[in-house]
Amino acid sequence: LQDFEVQNEPVLGYRAGSRERAELVTELQRTADVTEEVPIVIGDEYIKDGEPRYQVMPHDHGRKLAKYYYASDKMIQKAIQVSSDAQKRWDRTPLEKRLRIWQVAAEMMAGEHRQRLNAATMLGQSKSVVQAEIDSAAELIDFFRFNIFFLKENAKYQPISESPSVTRNSLRFRGLDGFVAAISPFNFTAIGGNLAYTPALMGNAVIWKPSDTALLSNWRIFNIMREAGLPAGVVNFVPADGPTFGRNITSSPQLAGVNFTGSVPTFNWLWNEVGKNLQNYKNYPRLIGECGGKNYHFIHPTADVQSVVTSTIRSAFEYCGQKCSACSRMYLPRSLADPIKQGLLEERAKLKIGNPTDFKIFAGAVIDDKAFARITGYIKNAKNNPKNTILGGGEFDDRKGYFVQPTIIETVDPLDKLMVEEIFGPVLTIYVYEDKDLSKALALVGSSTKFALTGAVFASDKKFLQTALEELKMTAGNFYINDKSTGSVVGQQPFGGGRMSGTNDKAGGPNYVMRWTTPQSIKETF
Ligand code: SER
Repeated sequence: LQDFEVQNEPVLGYRAGSRERAELVTELQRTADVTEEVPIVIGDEYIKDGEPRYQVMPHDHGRKLAKYYYASDKMIQKAIQVSSDAQKRWDRTPLEKRLRIWQVAAEMMAGEHRQRLNAATMLGQSKSVVQAEIDSAAELIDFFRFNIFFLKENAKYQPISESPSVTRNSLRFRGLDGFVAAISPFNFTAIGGNLAYTPALMGNAVIWKPSDTALLSNWRIFNIMREAGLPAGVVNFVPADGPTFGRNITSSPQLAGVNFTGSVPTFNWLWNEVGKNLQNYKNYPRLIGECGGKNYHFIHPTADVQSVVTSTIRSAFEYCGQKCSACSRMYLPRSLADPIKQGLLEERAKLKIGNPTDFKIFAGAVIDDKAFARITGYIKNAKNNPKNTILGGGEFDDRKGYFVQPTIIETVDPLDKLMVEEIFGPVLTIYVYEDKDLSKALALVGSSTKFALTGAVFASDKKFLQTALEELKMTAGNFYINDKSTGSVVGQQPFGGGRMSGTNDKAGGPNYVMRWTTPQSIKETF
């Protein structure tokens, strides 16, 4: 394979008067003006059939962004057939030819399609311009380019051949025999792209069930890939009701893998269904999942107050706390509690929440009515619980859009459900520990939740940092020292967690591509 140089895609600034800003404004207008009809795509069939459904704009839920349909059992069965057939042809396509499609697509995403992806992400998933740009532009493009790079790096290793004139050993990467189901979340457009297209890159055929609330941005990725030259049937675009989709794929003998990002209960359900059907499969299906977290910022008495404040505000409240990596529990030492709480409250008061097409907002609305009900349920409970004090925020309003103000709560109970359960919204809970109880507080980090996705410690005491690295070793797949728990970059901080946060296969890292191949060792004797 030819060498391939790779770099992270630069994040554009969108300053007033910039070209990218003008292009984005035009695209936002165009995207908002129509309700785009999104079909189900199976092979080369484009299907618009059944009861119409709508993706609305979370900041203005009366406005319909896209019209779409759910695939029926029959259609999902058809997709299984089509993709399992397509896989055999696709896996025979020479690797360089396959990689070229990803390269072309990445250039299209970085160029003429960038603002179409950003506009769909801003309007449909309620991301601010900065949050859209780091997701549907930079991260998505990075996934495409870095996965080519990782594939080539992995392919550089070839087994030893002791007498090459007599025998030669080699290893070839085959796609999985069957189909891969990709089930992607709303919160990152880039995750949809990665879940569906990385298995495809490795020679697999995929049935992609996008999230209902990320439909338009995901549909735009699908179209870019077709335009870049991906043959019909390699990735099938199949919006569907979750349980219907799940039942159909897990009961198919052709199931070769599931690439999942979403909730713990759904992943557990999939895993159980696969277990029940084990005797029927041709292969053991690969199950790869990323399922949320209860991410922490742990503050040591030697931490820098300003850096704690800035990092925590960003981690807890950017994109309304709907990043899987968002900080939602904070441990503060009594000696720093006052200045840090005061700093957080001052910064919180400055955050502007509103229409994501307004370039001055910090964050938009939460994703939908279900999220609004769940998040505000936690806030209402906290208001009625004497152990909890709302320090700032706590307001919400869903008359026009699903708006929840960034909320900071203090609890005296480190095991309160606000410190334990995933809320997936703009709610930060603080527990203040006594400085003398530092070790006890540190022990709480790992013992109080089942998750282990991201975490951060803030300290200038080097000895403590060494202790934290050991004591907190298994509490986070992505661990940060003196930085926020969010914002991993492809190729820089491979992402994923353990425990109930997932299988930790590290998206954006070198091993991820290898999960989607079933390699073959070949010994040739001359
Ligand atoms: N990779 C994202 C982050 O680190 C979360 O999915 O914030």
